[in-house]
Amino acid sequence: MDAVNDVANHTSEPVPEPPSTPSEPVGDERRRGSGSRLYPRVTSFRSRRGALTATQQQSWQRTWPRIGRDVADEPLNATAWFGREAPLVIEIGCGTGTATAAMAQAEPHLNLIGIEVYKPGLAQLVHRVERENIENIRLLRGDAVDVLENMIAEQSLTGVRVFFPDPWPKARHHKRRLLQPATLTLIASRLRPGGVLHVATDHADYAEHIAAVGAAEPQLIGLNETTGGVSADHRETAPIGFERPITKFESKAHRAGSAITEFIWGKIE
Ligand SMILES: C[S@@+](CC[C@H](N)C(=O)[O-])C[C@H]1O[C@@H](n2cnc3c(N)ncnc32)[C@H](O)[C@@H]1O
Repeated sequence: MDAVNDVANHTSEPVPEPPSTPSEPVGDERRRGSGSRLYPRVTSFRSRRGALTATQQQSWQRTWPRIGRDVADEPLNATAWFGREAPLVIEIGCGTGTATAAMAQAEPHLNLIGIEVYKPGLAQLVHRVERENIENIRLLRGDAVDVLENMIAEQSLTGVRVFFPDPWPKARHHKRRLLQPATLTLIASRLRPGGVLHVATDHADYAEHIAAVGAAEPQLIGLNETTGGVSADHRETAPIGFERPITKFESKAHRAGSAITEFIWGKIE
């Protein structure tokens, strides 16, 4: 990830100077501003600035009100929002949405919600959704942990995807990694029995951490070789596809010679 400032860091780590032009507040930051979150947690994202192009801005104004929402403290009625009842899949940290859009087009029978804090990333996806008339994507702007805690009912998700979560490579930042025991437990609790959690990372050390955390989560069983299962036994019957389009981010990892580790778990029936 590029230009960052750590205004979202609620730890005792040294915090760099805030930017002279603050980015729009999102999730934790906004709630801290309003004072309603008493115990802000360490967040897994950095606050990044970035401007929308004029085209993105126009498409945002036209289309965001229909397909996007800011994270809120109330339960989400996905059926009403999508205008149809269909299995619900969320993607945490959808970035610029390359995978989100391709997967939505490949799986028109699913309702897909991309969750992201970075507005310029969401704006790219909003523009693509509009351009390509993708009907089965909705977007939430804010912290995915808030979404899972407050907006998503237990046992309601058919799938959760987390592709290339920020690895936070420095040891002192490991606590900021999204995939920790508590988050895995939260994600698993939102999956319906038989639902699927699909994670990919290009970071070897984070991969080891994810493997250990996933293996310790009693609500999950391995469905692919990395998680101790046999993917051929589940590929055809799983409620979401195991395939993943290659994103720009992943191509960069390939060029840098990093191996991609893929984890697929199922929620116990
Ligand atoms: C390394 S990028 C990967 C983006 C995308 N999944 C891809 O494969 O190209 C990780 C993304 O996760 C987002 N992110 C990190 N923590 C998040 C959270 N708690 N809620 C929502 N988005 C988050 C970041 O803003 C960033 O865009």
